[in-house]
Amino acid sequence: MANPTFTLPARGATPELKLSKKAPKSPDAFVVPVLKGEEGPELPASALLDDTALRNVLNSLTAVGATGKVCEVTRIPAPEGVAADSVIAVGLGDPEELTDETVRRAAGTVARALSGMKAVATTLGVFGLAAAVEGIALGAYNYRGIRSESKDNGNGNGTVGKVIFVSDEKSATAEFETARITAEAVLLARDLVNTPSSHLYPESYAAILAEQAEEAGLVVEVLEEKSLKKGGFGGILAVGQGSERGPRLVRLSWTPKKKAKKSVALVGKGITFDTGGISIKPAASMENMVSDMGGSAAVAATVIAAARLNLPVKITATMPLAENMPDGRALRPGDVITHYGGTTSEIINTDAEGRLVLADALAYASEDKPDYLIETATLTGAQMVALGVRTSGVMGSEELRDRLAATGRSVGEPAWAMPLLEEQEEELKSPVADIRNAHPNRWGGMEFAGLYLSRFIGEGIEWAHVDIAGPSYNTGGVHGYTPKRASGVPVRTFLALLTEIAEEG
Ligand code: BES
Ligand code: MN
Ligand code: ZN
Repeated sequence: MANPTFTLPARGATPELKLSKKAPKSPDAFVVPVLKGEEGPELPASALLDDTALRNVLNSLTAVGATGKVCEVTRIPAPEGVAADSVIAVGLGDPEELTDETVRRAAGTVARALSGMKAVATTLGVFGLAAAVEGIALGAYNYRGIRSESKDNGNGNGTVGKVIFVSDEKSATAEFETARITAEAVLLARDLVNTPSSHLYPESYAAILAEQAEEAGLVVEVLEEKSLKKGGFGGILAVGQGSERGPRLVRLSWTPKKKAKKSVALVGKGITFDTGGISIKPAASMENMVSDMGGSAAVAATVIAAARLNLPVKITATMPLAENMPDGRALRPGDVITHYGGTTSEIINTDAEGRLVLADALAYASEDKPDYLIETATLTGAQMVALGVRTSGVMGSEELRDRLAATGRSVGEPAWAMPLLEEQEEELKSPVADIRNAHPNRWGGMEFAGLYLSRFIGEGIEWAHVDIAGPSYNTGGVHGYTPKRASGVPVRTFLALLTEIAEEG
């Protein structure tokens, strides 16, 4: 199945992560946490600094005006007797208000300040090892794309070489490994999303996913155009028909060795580029539509990580992949298409293409009768109008919807429950088909898309739809552990929820 012809043209740089019981020999820097006390900065006891060093570092920090406020980074020369070139303090703020998210953001912020160093050791993990590992790995990530060597700026890969987490706690190894695998999953999703559509299109994307998944021991299935036609995947074919590069449907399945109690279907939108099709988008910012496969990248990275973590839950991830282009053969407004399972849609707007490919995938995934069906997509601009660019909109069965949104917030991937709207049932009706793919006004665009999708969920299946149009791709500035471009949202939410589901009776 794996096809060596297709590989990612570039990966984001990321440091090697290590766990160690004691301080390594002469790293470039020690990275230590500093708290904001009532009377200035406070330096917690540290395995990297003895009492004298601790006092000296605190004196220097105070002298240069460090306060310990959240994400404040202060670098000082290492005092005598400290086996590193410098000490870098990162603020965690008021200890009473300290959360995992504070540690993650502070770790992400300090990680960027380490760019160019070979190796550093840190005790940030004493305030949450998993959060520190995730924050460092996610914050240090640096994607530089595809460049000619001669035009390279010669500053290396823009990140730190190695980060050693110093901890002598018994439970540290398992926590460290889980956090490392989780972070790697987020980075894989980011790499996929950051890859330009010149290099990532349905055929190459399917091959790259197949290779990654096989390495993790998953069962891989790729449907090419002929099988999609035979199977009646009319939504995926309709969206893909305007592109020279035909659509695919990828399935990755994880079955734990010991019989799992619960089964989960994951579904993710995989539009490798969205021009809008015949209902073409304006030119401004269209380049951001390289990210329109963020949902599929997240679910693929999630199922691969679930296998690596050996999670005792059965997971099947289904990813419909297509490129939405305008062309002589492209889908037209007014066309009627027949989805997998038989439901017909009237096309009002070819730019509402995500729901068309998802409709097939949701109906297909429903056939397995999973306990939970969780789908995510960069589905609507309306998501950003309603919730801003960092908070995902979650729709679906009440219980799963609320639970998923709460899980997102608990891991620092903000998410909010949104309703399906009764008045939009009427707007879903078409004079020439079962339903139509867009409604005639500007109100509740995210909810309308959710309602459209609800028609393809199998009877009685608990489901959730997560609209990540804003949160999956950062078009603003760097913040915390979130770089520009791909964020990898909502991989950590999904892994946290699956870990919980695996523990359910
Ligand atoms: N991929 C877009 C949604 C999107 C827009 C994601 C901006 C991220 C940033 C989606 O396919 C789309 O075009 N949706 C339309 C739907 C409309 C035509 C009913 C939208 O939101 O405008
Ligand atoms: Mn679109
Ligand atoms: Zn789209």
